[in-house]
Amino acid sequence: MPELKNYYITTPIYYVNDAPHIGHAYTTLACDVLARFKRLDGYNVNFLTGTDEHGQKVEKSAAAAGKDPQTFTDEVSQNFRDLLGAMNFSNDDFIRTTEARHTKAAQAIWKALEEAGDIYLDNYAGWYSVRDEAFYSEDELVKGADGKKLAPTGAEVEWVEEPSYFFRLSAWGDKLLAFYDANPDFILPETRRNEVVSFVRGGLRDLSVSRTSFNWGVPVPGNEDHIMYVWLDALTNYITAVDYPDTNSEKYQIFWPADVHMVGKDILRFHAVYWPAFLMAAGLEAPKRVFAHGWWTNEGEKISKSTGNAIDPLDLIAEFGLDQVRYFLMREVPFGNDGDYSRTAMIQRTNADLANDFGNLSQRVLSMVFKNCDAAIPAPQAFTDEDNTMLQQSYDLLDKLRTEYDRQGIHRALEAQWRVVAEANRYVDAQAPWGLKKTDPERMGTVLYVLAEVIRNLAILAQPIVPGSAAKILDQLQQSEEARGFDTIGASGALVAGTPLDKPEPVFPRFVEPD
Ligand code: MSP
Repeated sequence: MPELKNYYITTPIYYVNDAPHIGHAYTTLACDVLARFKRLDGYNVNFLTGTDEHGQKVEKSAAAAGKDPQTFTDEVSQNFRDLLGAMNFSNDDFIRTTEARHTKAAQAIWKALEEAGDIYLDNYAGWYSVRDEAFYSEDELVKGADGKKLAPTGAEVEWVEEPSYFFRLSAWGDKLLAFYDANPDFILPETRRNEVVSFVRGGLRDLSVSRTSFNWGVPVPGNEDHIMYVWLDALTNYITAVDYPDTNSEKYQIFWPADVHMVGKDILRFHAVYWPAFLMAAGLEAPKRVFAHGWWTNEGEKISKSTGNAIDPLDLIAEFGLDQVRYFLMREVPFGNDGDYSRTAMIQRTNADLANDFGNLSQRVLSMVFKNCDAAIPAPQAFTDEDNTMLQQSYDLLDKLRTEYDRQGIHRALEAQWRVVAEANRYVDAQAPWGLKKTDPERMGTVLYVLAEVIRNLAILAQPIVPGSAAKILDQLQQSEEARGFDTIGASGALVAGTPLDKPEPVFPRFVEPD
């Protein structure tokens, strides 16, 4: 039996207190790219995203909007669903924590933790930040400009005293450290891993996992005065979606543990400390990887609701085009680092990398084939060393990309691919096929064949990033749907001479500033 290749990747589930902005689109985009890459590489993929609908923060936002929480969450959750289509995201499932399947899973994990002896009832007296939905100890707080106590994230905190169930997190420190040791790539990038390890080494306190001062959430089984802490509720979504508590289900069997939980750096601790501790305590396996990406600023400014400078991905798409936005977000900033959105950089990437480098390469080569080779792929003569080197570079790219994508090095994969684009442009200039038309038409045919074949490979490999545009190039090359997977990369899938070509249309237009 061939080995089953499965891949389960998740985005964080988004709070429905606000409209989606570029930060949300970014996290899901990275997952979309990885999910598409794996599908094309023959994996059975489960790509999950969704909305985090419980908790005090959402309850307050609903009240501020004058709506009951369910109506409010229905509306805002829909905005996140709409973004999926607008960004061409290929998620396989969309989870809402208000769904019955999720309540069932959240209550089941609670019971498993309780049965394991890891939950006890006590009183909580301490600081809570509604914006972060997080508890803070006194020594973590910082002083704001007016001397007011703030969370280390800058969020407001309030003093809370109420009966609360606790999870014995303090008992899990050593086991977590042993787990990080045994799984050195569990947290990426490495600098983030080091931060988490030193946090856990510093000692863990038991975690309050229920609240009694509001109602909007999953009731604690057996004591309905308590609502489950929204992070315990939310994290469980990753196993709800693979049928937990039915651990015998096929979905659970093939997809759990997840391959990648993609998160922003602000929520790494919840995913890399609390979540594996909950899972291990419940007798379940921890995920294989948590990758923490950085944060975007807007023209140097922190994106915030109060300054109203959030970038709406729909506006960017309307102005620059979808694939241009997808490419920019994945290429501009090394994945894992913080990054700044600037209009100048957006235009630069659109015009230099896409319109000039990849777009022109494909447009000028396919136009030459169309005009000079009777609108069909020419039959090549024997390849020269230069031809073979050029072809081989495009064939070798797949293995490089696999290595990079397996560590979520999306920007490095793009750099590698665009190096081959640059090589192909140098090859066109060096071989100057336009000059061969009269002197050596057969050689011209060979050069154009090599180039069209390189473009085929480049377009196939570009599909995860710029799916619409790559599809247009593959359409022009008359490649069927079945001929677009990574199994066709290389000589075995090479273009067949005589294949008719559609009239090439430019795929990556230049951006010109309106007057
Ligand atoms: N609901 C929690 C996640 C629960 S997962 C079990 C949450 N939601 S969120 O809507 O506030 O944030 C979701 C994601 O968006 C986070 O990964 C966060 O890092 C990301 N971003 C929000 N603003 C961002 C930027 N300005 N830049 C990049 N990503 C940012 O946290």
